[in-house]
Amino acid sequence: MKSIVITGASRGLGAAMARHWAAPGVTVALIGRDAVALAAVAAACEAAGATTRQAVLDVRDATAMSAQLLAWDNALPFDLVVANAGVTAGTRPDGGLEGPEAAALVIGVNLQGALNLVEPLLPRLLARGAGRVVLVASVAAFRGLPDSPAYCASKAGLWAYGESLRPLLALRGVGVTTVAPGFFHSAMSEKFIANQPFKLTAETVAARVARAVAKGRGRCIVPRRMGYMLRLLELLPAPIADRAVRLFRFSVSDG
Ligand SMILES: NC(=O)c1ccc[n+]([C@@H]2O[C@H](COP(=O)([O-])OP(=O)(O)OC[C@H]3O[C@@H](n4cnc5c(N)ncnc54)[C@H](OP(=O)(O)O)[C@@H]3O)[C@@H](O)[C@H]2O)c1
Repeated sequence: MKSIVITGASRGLGAAMARHWAAPGVTVALIGRDAVALAAVAAACEAAGATTRQAVLDVRDATAMSAQLLAWDNALPFDLVVANAGVTAGTRPDGGLEGPEAAALVIGVNLQGALNLVEPLLPRLLARGAGRVVLVASVAAFRGLPDSPAYCASKAGLWAYGESLRPLLALRGVGVTTVAPGFFHSAMSEKFIANQPFKLTAETVAARVARAVAKGRGRCIVPRRMGYMLRLLELLPAPIADRAVRLFRFSVSDG
């Protein structure tokens, strides 16, 4: 991959993927809202020999996203498009529900924000008959969890979007990799007040995503046992699955 764009590149998994792919001959375009953090990630990528571009953008701003993406793509066509930016919400430590504003934010960033990255670039990728789209969903896409309904809905929507696109785009030379991570260390997971089984580092997940991309894989579920556990739950009758899923109760701190 020579020209990559990543949303949510200022920290966590997005920054880890940027650093992983950074190398001489590679240009990495970084999108996030925190200019200082983006500049630090860019410096690390440049130290590894990559060329970088940065844009301080909210992925919910479809107009600004489209303008920036098309300008970058005119200068150097993208061959890897990574929708990673995400936010979380859920039951609060006092038992309060996530609420309408948090729910709208989560859907806006995690689902509509991903579409705001992919949709403007799709006609370009199809015209070139090359490239790959990577969508970072979550194992929460596989089975609704009681304490984060909007987050699960956003990730189920993103997973379905990618699974729909893949068979269509493959006929025209464009790959899609849907990614479902379990827990990994980041600012996001620090907010979860919960057991976080099989927790990985962001670097490990980034390396697994990069391997899936290099092999042209359609899906990357990491760790697999976490994903398959939740996928199997979805096959059970609702009363049994609902009882089982209550084992995954958690809350999300505001900090
Ligand atoms: N951590 C986990 O355990 C876990 C598990 C499964 C899936 N995931 C998913 O993996 C992805 C990365 O998560 P992470 O844990 O690395 O999270 P993180 O450390 O909280 O980083 C989130 C990134 O998204 C960016 N972002 C948030 N809102 C944005 C907006 N409106 N516009 C542009 N950028 C925005 C943030 O940048 P700015 O603040 O600079 O805008 C930041 O770079 C997310 O999609 C998340 O849902 C995480």
